Amino acid sequence: MNISSDVIKRIAAARRIAVLTGAGISAESGIPTFRGEDGIWKKIRPEELASMDAFLKNPALVWEWYEYRRKIIRDVTPNAAHYTLAEMEKHLPHLSISTQNIDGLHQRAGSARVYELHGNILRNRCNNCGRIDQNLDLGKDKKRPTCECGGLIRPDVVWFGEMLPADILDKSFEEAQNADVYFSIGTSAVVYPAAQLPVEALHNGAYVIEINLEPTPLTSRVHAHYHGKAGDILPELWQAVKNEIGRLDP
Ligand code: OAD
Repeated sequence: MNISSDVIKRIAAARRIAVLTGAGISAESGIPTFRGEDGIWKKIRPEELASMDAFLKNPALVWEWYEYRRKIIRDVTPNAAHYTLAEMEKHLPHLSISTQNIDGLHQRAGSARVYELHGNILRNRCNNCGRIDQNLDLGKDKKRPTCECGGLIRPDVVWFGEMLPADILDKSFEEAQNADVYFSIGTSAVVYPAAQLPVEALHNGAYVIEINLEPTPLTSRVHAHYHGKAGDILPELWQAVKNEIGRLDP
């Protein structure tokens, strides 16, 4: 891969780096993406399973789908791209990740500053009082669980038609506005408000780098883009940055 020395120097010199990740970063771990050829939304309509209406209409079916996805996510492990971002956070002055993924793989790889824009599938939450429920066992009879307050317990993820958690969205925008370098990795960059984050970074003078298998609506606007697997590109890029930092600070 041909990495320009400008890209390497920008990353090595950055005081603040912010990253947006999407389903593509977890694809190499074995979690299907949403819009690819085998994408989840090619097989089911989101409003049938990932919406409050669907949940109220047929909670058993929605729980079944989430139990199935939880099993996939529990059985997979982070890949080289997740581990590289975790290592970068440890060695660079400031790196944060805003992720659209609900799989928790960034945290399992060791990343600490992670903003989960769409929630986390390995948590439940009361739809009424908002209490987080770590008990994911629906019981043998798979009864529809309810909270002490009487509200419905649901997966702690953002469904279609719902707002993103305001504090997390605010933090993500703040990170984008203050970043010297911004990465958009493995996202089709079409779902808002997340897709606005790299644009916000661009408007605030960040050097924006995209890593994706294919071009996206963002590609023509970024400073550098790499087409390929995040698990191949990120480690190579990071190795080049480490070499540069070592050269500057022997
Ligand atoms: P998408 O499925 O829309 O896009 C995944 C992107 O990752 C595509 O652009 C692929 O080309 C790219 N990709 C696939 N494998 C890759 C790899 N190994 N390395 C690099 N890139 C790769 O997923 P998202 O953009 O995350 O929202 O989708 C955004 C949101 O749409 C999701 O969070 C979900 C969905 O509806 C909710 O559920 C609220």
